[in-house]
Order: sequence, then C-alpha cells, then structure tokens
Amino acid sequence: LQFARYHFATDNPPWIADHDIPTMYLIPMLLLSFSMAIVICHVLWQLAKPHHPNLPPVIFHWLPVFGSALQYGTDPIKFLSKCREKHGNVFTFILFGRRMTVALGAKGNHFVTGGKLAEVSAEAAYTDLTTPVFGKDVVFDVPNHVLMEQKRFVKFGLSVENFRAYAGLIEKEVRDYLATDPSFSAHRSTKREEWGSFDVLKSLQELTIFTASRTLQGEEVRSSLNKSFAGLYNDLDGGFTPLNLLFPNLPLPSNRRRDQAQKAMSEFYIRILAERKSTNASHEHDMLSALATQSYKDGTPLTDQQIAHIMIALLMAGQHTSSATASWALLHLAHRPDVAQALFDEQTKYFSLPDGSLRPITYDELRELPLLDSIIRETLRLHPPIHSIMRKVVKNMTVPGSLTSPSRDINYVIPKGDLILSSPALSQIDPTIWKDPLMWDPYRWSDPEGVASQASKSYDDATGEKIDYGFGIISKGTESPYQPFGAGRHRCIGEQFAYLQLGVILVTMVRHLEMKLDGPFPGTNFHTLIPMPGSPRVISYKRRAPIVA
Ligand code: HEM
Repeated sequence: LQFARYHFATDNPPWIADHDIPTMYLIPMLLLSFSMAIVICHVLWQLAKPHHPNLPPVIFHWLPVFGSALQYGTDPIKFLSKCREKHGNVFTFILFGRRMTVALGAKGNHFVTGGKLAEVSAEAAYTDLTTPVFGKDVVFDVPNHVLMEQKRFVKFGLSVENFRAYAGLIEKEVRDYLATDPSFSAHRSTKREEWGSFDVLKSLQELTIFTASRTLQGEEVRSSLNKSFAGLYNDLDGGFTPLNLLFPNLPLPSNRRRDQAQKAMSEFYIRILAERKSTNASHEHDMLSALATQSYKDGTPLTDQQIAHIMIALLMAGQHTSSATASWALLHLAHRPDVAQALFDEQTKYFSLPDGSLRPITYDELRELPLLDSIIRETLRLHPPIHSIMRKVVKNMTVPGSLTSPSRDINYVIPKGDLILSSPALSQIDPTIWKDPLMWDPYRWSDPEGVASQASKSYDDATGEKIDYGFGIISKGTESPYQPFGAGRHRCIGEQFAYLQLGVILVTMVRHLEMKLDGPFPGTNFHTLIPMPGSPRVISYKRRAPIVA
C-alpha cells in the first residue's frame, strides 16, 4: 500500500528515481521481487520437473501452496470439468499445500466411496472440520466401527412409525409459517390477486430448522428456537465453513464463538435429557428419546454427552443440505409454472375432499407421488448439496486401469497422505449418461431415454447388491453415477427423513401459493460449504385459488 501510495503521489515512478526511494519502500519492493522470483521458480520447476509415470498429472498452478484454490473454490464443477478434458478421470491438484487426487465418473465414485478401510479414511479427511462443531467422541472423532454403531442408533430413531408422526407436524409448521411470517403477508391478504415476494433461501433455512426441530430434535429445541438456541446455532454454523475444513483452529473470533456455542449447545441437550429423566414425560417420537435407549454392542450405553453431540451432528448434517435442496426445488418450480401446476394437480388427484379442499398429507401416501419424487430426485441431480466426497489415503492405493485409460501400461499409485476426491455433482451431469444434462427436467425420471439404465438403477433399487456395514442393510451403489446421498459405508442415513421433510414443505407451499420468477434464474454460490443459490433469489407469489383448508 505504501508503495502504491508513493507511486501515485509522485510524478516519477520509483524505479526511475530510485535514489529517492526512502528505505521504508525498499522492503516492500524487495518482498515483491522475492515473491515474483518464487512464482517464476515454481512455474519453471513445474514445467521442467520430470513427471513420475506412477503419479497422476498435477494441475498447473501459478502460486505455490495456494495451488488451484481459487479455481476450485469459485466453481469446482467448471474447474474439475476443464481438468478432465485435459487429463482424463484421474489427476491431482494442490489446495493450500495439500495434494487432492481426483477420481471422476461412476468408476471414480466407486474408487472413493467404495475404498477399503485399510486404504482410505473419512475420519482423517473430515475430523478437523466436524469435531470442533459436533464435539468429542462422535462421528469422525471415533474409529470407523464406532461410527457404524452410532449410525445404527440414529437409524433406530428414523423409523417409519416416527415418520408417520412427523408428516402432520411438518405440514403444520409450514402452514403456521405462511400464516405469520412477514414475507407472506400477501398470502394472508383478502385480495387474492395481490403479489408478494420472499427470499427463498432465507425462508427455507427458517422452515428447515423449524420443521427439523419440531420433529427429530424435539419440542424443547423447537420452543427455544426463538430464543437462545438460534444464536447458538448461528455461532456454531459460523465454524462450519470451507476455511475450517482446511484450517480448523485459526485464532479467529468466529472460531472462539464456535467453541463457546458447541459447549453451550451440548449443555443445552444434556439439560433436556436430565429434565426428561426427572419428569418422566413421554417424547416417544423424537431422536433424543430414541438415542437414550441405545447401547453399544459391548453393552455400554451412550453417555448424555455423546447423545448431545450426535444431536448437534444431525442438526448440522440436515440443515444446509435440506434448505439448499428445498430452495433450488422451489426456484425451479417458480421458473417452470407448468411443473408447479402439474404438482398441484397431483395433490388434487390424491388428496381432494368432496368439498374441494385438500386433506392433510400422510407419510405413506407421500412416498407414492411420482411427480413429487421426480422433482426432488431431479433437483438433487442438478444441485447435489455435497459436490465433493473426500477420503484421506492411509496406504498407497493403486488406481485400476478401468478408471484411467485402458491403453496405459502403468497404473497410477496414489501416495499415502493424499486426499482423494470424487464428485457426484459431475457424474450427475455427465452428457454420456444423461440426456440434456444441464436441463432441470423431472420427467426424465419416468422417461426411459432421459436417464441411462445404470443411473436409473440407483442404490435403492431392489435388484442392486446389498451390504451391511453395521448400520443396517443398504444397496451398495458405490458405482452409480447418481450419488446425492453418497454410497458405501459413509452413505447418508438421513435420506428418508430428507425426502419427507422436503416433500411436505414443497407440496404445502404449492398447495397455498402460485409462484413465478421475475428475474433470471440464480447462479450457484460455491463459497459456502454447501453450494447455495446466489443473490438475488427472490420468488414472487400470490395466493392460490381455491383457498385450501
Ligand atoms: C452422510 C448427503 C440429509 C445425516 C451423507 C453423505 C452425503 C449426504 C453425500 C456422504 C458423505 C461422504 O461420503 O463423505 C445428504 C443430502 C441430504 C442429507 C443431500 C439432504 C438433502 C441428511 C439428514 C441427516 C443426515 C437430514 C440427519 C438426519 C447424515 C449422516 C451421514 C451422512 C449421519 C453419515 C456420515 C458418515 O457415515 O460418514 N449425507 N444428507 N443427512 N448424512 Fe446426509
């Protein structure tokens, strides 16, 4: 800055009248020259260094350490696609000094999500990000077999019986929101033709946390949301950023707030557990009460602190993933009023009462609605909340020839210490698999030509290979190009809950509102951990006729 000020404040540039340069400007100039020398050496070294045939090619980058951080951080899909055009399915890029080796396509998905425990570790890849937020002794702060048991405990709470109880609770939350939130005043107006508007991400973030807390998290969390809990949540969320994945413990105020909020939120859940024990009140359908009954295989029960930390993990795992998906789905429905109308027609077909109103949604019927299912499926294809799945290599891994080029006579070996990365976001828009891959077209899921056979045969297909990693039988699906919920031992266990939550939120909105987009369709903001619709993301709406009960 000083150099620049000097430069602009004088007629003679400093390199002309260098005898006039005060000593204080020499230091920045030396630093600048030194940095430029490093960049030049780094570039020359990349160009001249002999490439080891066993190692995947490294993506060219100008800055040492920083590597390809800017390109990957700004638009990972564009960056990975470009690299694939040049280098094929397997290559390495540098991200803040780390070697990230990418494996793309369905086979790349299999390589990463189906990796053997002896070779890859999810906990080593993610613990720096998650443990300060979730707390100790859960998820990625425990060995893999313990995580598998903890996933089994959570699945116990995600039962069909609970889901049946949740459908009505979620619908009520959405209706209450439409009835009270200031953005939806036009919905309450007596004039039906009155248009209002809402910021879709803001509203869906609120609706997601209200509905998740009213169901899974329990009524104490829901009733505290307007008070202390919301602040704690925000502080904790401030520690769940891409920066924290790379540098978990920088001395930043946001990290201090994250640590305080983690402690306070953990104590909050522990207090609820203690109060519940003392009052013996029944909360049979929520996750806290489900977890309180669970024990490890050796008979040790979950401690209250572990329960609290699992509850925080579930809150964080479901919040951004579901709110981003619901926002994208509503944006597409507002952009395609014909699909929104077809979704409304599907509702009237299945739920109409003789007086023309619509009866409440139930979990069992929700699962049978083909268009709703296709809308969620298609939204997750085009906007998967988790675009990169990562594992740390703990033992040198040989890349199978089928993943690179069959003509290569030497297989790549990925060295221990690399992070490997697959990208469902890319295989889900692969033009060799999907017709018009970038078009949001829910009808593709009922069109035999819209999806290649291997993609439509998703992991929940009854004919797929079944496997039990310790949290219940699932379809393996590691080689599917469609993996919005991952695959293998780390596959998501929240999928059914997410479909229920998203389904009820979307149809309740569509039952009550006609929507349109006045501006262009928003782009994607990749600077957050979960990609979100960029600004502006405003949907205009008016109340739908006839008024439903
Ligand atoms: C794991 C996506 C909602 C809990 C995962 C993974 C993905 C994913 C891709 C695998 C990550 C990896 O392999 O590295 C999603 C999407 C959601 C969603 C797209 C919503 C649209 C939820 C919800 C919950 C949840 C609502 C909790 C109720 C979990 C858990 C894991 C997981 C516990 C397992 C972590 C592991 O075994 O390593 N999710 N998720 N997710 N998710 Fe979800």
